[in-house]
Amino acid sequence: MTKMKMKQLILITVLIAAGTSSLFAESKKGPDLGKSVSPEEITGWEISVFPDGEGLPKGEGSVEEGEKIYQQQCIVCHGENGLGETADQLAGAQMGLTSEYPEQTIGTYWPYATTVFDVIRRSMPMTAPSSLNDNEVYSVTAYLLYLNNLIAKNDVMNSESLPKVKMPNESGFINVYEKEKQR
Ligand code: HEC
Repeated sequence: MTKMKMKQLILITVLIAAGTSSLFAESKKGPDLGKSVSPEEITGWEISVFPDGEGLPKGEGSVEEGEKIYQQQCIVCHGENGLGETADQLAGAQMGLTSEYPEQTIGTYWPYATTVFDVIRRSMPMTAPSSLNDNEVYSVTAYLLYLNNLIAKNDVMNSESLPKVKMPNESGFINVYEKEKQR
């Protein structure tokens, strides 16, 4: 090997060593997947409402107010009186669940009234999820419960009254977790 070639070889070896050591230095910092999340940010995303009403926010809404919102923002997909259009039928079931073509509306199918609030708040209207404020969600929830004959026209929905609305199909589900525990 000539002196020149020897020098080149040493240089390359040194460069490779430097490269690998800087690689190790990088990996010690971790994969660098982004910034850590603050507790405030996590609270902002934690919007789950549980069957017993845990997680329901302050505020309230009326059937009357809900009807207005429904006419403006929901009727195009869910139809007049919740009877369904391009999207699900939400009310007005005639045949119930046991007919040949079961009608899974809020009134016939849903086990908890509080879930109506949760679903609407996080996902509706489909074109602008999370755009309704809490009072508006309470109102449109009240209107849908009213359409399903589950509350009266003057009832007001809030974190106290909503969990008390008894749903006809509450006992129609099997709680697999409870069943597992009993084994
Ligand atoms: C652009 C059409 C559209 C609009 C507007 C819209 N929805 Fe929906 N909605 C849908 C579709 C589609 C689904 C079914 C989504 C799915 O199954 O994932 C749905 C599902 C729902 C459900 C659950 C139905 C079920 O049985 O699972 C509720 C409750 C609901 N919408 C309420 C509302 C309310 C209240 C508004 C107005 C504030 C609204 N939606 C506006 C399209 C729409």
